[in-house]
Amino acid sequence: MSFYVTTPIYYVNAAPHLGHAYTTIAADVMARHHRQRGDDVFFLTGTDEHGEPVALAAEAAGVTPRELADLNSERFRALGPRLGASNDFFIRTSDPEHGRRVQEVLTRVKDNGHVYEGTYEGWYCPRCADFKTESEVEDGNRCPIHHIELIWEQEENWFFRLSTFQEPLERLYAEQPEFVRPRARYNEALSFVRGGLQDISLTRAKTRWGIAVPWAPGQVFYVWFDALLNYYTALGYARNGEDLTPRFWPASYHLIGKDILKFHTVFWPAMLMAAGLPLPHNVFVHGFLLMDGEKMSKSLGNVLDPFAVIDRYGTDALRFYLLRDVPFGQDGSVSTAAFEARYETELANDLGNLASRTIAMIHRYRDGVVPASAPDPALVADFEALVPRVCELVDRAELTQALEEAWERVRRLNRYVEEQAPWTLAKDDTRAADLDRVLATLAEGLRVVTVVLAAWLPTTATTLLDALGAPDLALDGARLGAGALGRVATIEPLFPKGR
Ligand code: MSP
Repeated sequence: MSFYVTTPIYYVNAAPHLGHAYTTIAADVMARHHRQRGDDVFFLTGTDEHGEPVALAAEAAGVTPRELADLNSERFRALGPRLGASNDFFIRTSDPEHGRRVQEVLTRVKDNGHVYEGTYEGWYCPRCADFKTESEVEDGNRCPIHHIELIWEQEENWFFRLSTFQEPLERLYAEQPEFVRPRARYNEALSFVRGGLQDISLTRAKTRWGIAVPWAPGQVFYVWFDALLNYYTALGYARNGEDLTPRFWPASYHLIGKDILKFHTVFWPAMLMAAGLPLPHNVFVHGFLLMDGEKMSKSLGNVLDPFAVIDRYGTDALRFYLLRDVPFGQDGSVSTAAFEARYETELANDLGNLASRTIAMIHRYRDGVVPASAPDPALVADFEALVPRVCELVDRAELTQALEEAWERVRRLNRYVEEQAPWTLAKDDTRAADLDRVLATLAEGLRVVTVVLAAWLPTTATTLLDALGAPDLALDGARLGAGALGRVATIEPLFPKGR
């Protein structure tokens, strides 16, 4: 099966922060998990570089838009490896190949009769690069997201006949109830559609920093259409000499934050219909990471620096925390205190201690070799259910619940250690076979749960599975007793305390 997952492409008018890291990490968990299932995976992220906001930020910084884009795109690109992101390509909308494909697709939209010339007037937020509808405008003509004053804009440009897609979109929502999730976001998108759709401007006459409109000299495409098309254009040029489009289009999952719901659940499917292209299977809308009750964003100044967190605690700790503490799909507050608590109680105590004591006991009691005993039947059934359940949850992008399923097994193994008290068995020679079984069960249980956790904790999983002498990540083998473990190496604490 092929699996294609995307993150939004991030604006280069600011540096990356934890909110961006969040979506990238979530997409990476899905990509890694699907690779472990043996799927043919493509994972895309990148930067959105055109439009007014970038031009304005560049002007303020006294550099050209391209210079600013180069600088900040590089920061987003550098964030990827620090997060453990295994993206297969990093798109920049300033790539000439992207520009050519945008021109091709949007010319097709025009040839199909969905574009006309007109005058646009409305309240415009330069930070969103978007006109606001009357109902969105905050008191004092302010942007509901940035709280800055909106500008009344008027210009001659080309329009996309979004209004004619109301019925096709309603049909899409009726026929594909999974198109947008969670359900509350589906309802929000559908009610936006039902509220009536106005045509929207497809081009900009004032802005220079963008992709030229082939049929209207002096105009560029509205940055949002240029940006949305990245999901499609990237497949055409990500691999030299190979067009990946037939292999991966339509996308399996677009992961987005709720701030860009309208673009992905209304404009984007309409645009694809207008171009005669197949629609993505799922748009999953996650919530906001909040600090002090407000969306974390550069413009509000309340950001946590992901680089600093990773320097101190490592990549896996951040990945774990973000998908554990805030249920994926909902809003949630993040804080240093909550992060530290999760780190200590769950990573260091639950998983870290389970790993170190399991490995230490195998060394102490069996000279570092896992006994060739069948695993305890009491745990086999519970562990059999793990992989199918996690697959089902990841299929629905329920990444927090899926992680909890794995964590239940970590806790189960810790209870098993206490129940079986291997240190007592070790004192009694007549219980040698029991001790063999307990140690074999613990080692196998640890291996299985680590394979499942590898999508969330890739660095830890590699260290641990290497120590167990079983580096295979395939989920097929994540069954108790499938492992045939032998000699195990010693390990340093996985999550050292007192950082
Ligand atoms: N460039 C557009 C997206 C174009 S996609 C075709 C854009 N860029 S952005 O840099 O503003 O990134 C927005 C996305 O970053 C959100 O949709 C979300 O995925 C992520 N987040 C940014 N701040 C966030 C939080 N505080 N919390 C969670 N996610 C956040 O919009």
